[in-house]
Amino acid sequence: MEIYSNIAELRSALAKVRQEGRTIAFAPTMGNLHAGHISLMRQAREHADCVVASIFVNRLQFGPNEDFDKYPRTFDADCSQLRDAGVEFLFAPTEIDLYPQPQTYVVEPPEIQFLLEGECRPGHFRGVATVVMKLFQIVQPDVALFGKKDYQQLMVLRNMVSQFMLPIKIVGGETVRADDGLALSSRNGYLSPEERAEAPRLQQTLKNIRQAVLSGNHDYDALCRMASENLDSHGWKTDYISIRRQQDLGPASASDTDLVVVAASKLGTPRLLDNIEI
Ligand code: PAF
Repeated sequence: MEIYSNIAELRSALAKVRQEGRTIAFAPTMGNLHAGHISLMRQAREHADCVVASIFVNRLQFGPNEDFDKYPRTFDADCSQLRDAGVEFLFAPTEIDLYPQPQTYVVEPPEIQFLLEGECRPGHFRGVATVVMKLFQIVQPDVALFGKKDYQQLMVLRNMVSQFMLPIKIVGGETVRADDGLALSSRNGYLSPEERAEAPRLQQTLKNIRQAVLSGNHDYDALCRMASENLDSHGWKTDYISIRRQQDLGPASASDTDLVVVAASKLGTPRLLDNIEI
């Protein structure tokens, strides 16, 4: 695996790949890789001839009281996992490489950036969209892959690519879970052993909601309120549990089909995200 932090050098290496007529799949990450990321890398190989990954902890998408400084950085372990997964190029820029000046031009997503995660993390999706746009300009992939665990992020980026007419196919990777159902996330490492034992309750809660909806319960507000109260009675601090339309993440009504239940809840230090499609 070739590792680049310098943008010009990566660009000329990738230009050679394109000259050879090979297509490029790109999976951006913030490092601290787990099986979910590795599954994206493996999927990436099915979509193109050459796989490029990036590792960059993007300050722009963290709020002032969030865990930017504490975000786990495990570069050497990440590199060996990427090598094993067949990644050919890793782009691992420093902040100076990617933000040589303060980023004053930004990608401002529409209303969707203020819903759900956006309401809890103001500016988060502006930071994500801006860095991904920059990464796309640098790597110029044919295909880019993002995990479905971050459902809203995937939607923001899909819409961005569509509206800016970027010639990039966006692929959503299925959420990879531990045996007990907990969605894998870099932030799971912050859980104490007791919290880790409690954590699968989030997915179980979403499955229960899904079951209730499929059995004909359309009182979505009451379903979500009860689910949230139940989680909180087990030590969680729920930001939201909500049944939304898959298409635009707007609030779902009884006549809507193709739904998704999205949730974010704090268990001890970390805030866990999960979702389930109906
Ligand atoms: O999902 C992530 O890890 C990040 O939000 C991303 C897409 C790499 C942008 O920094």
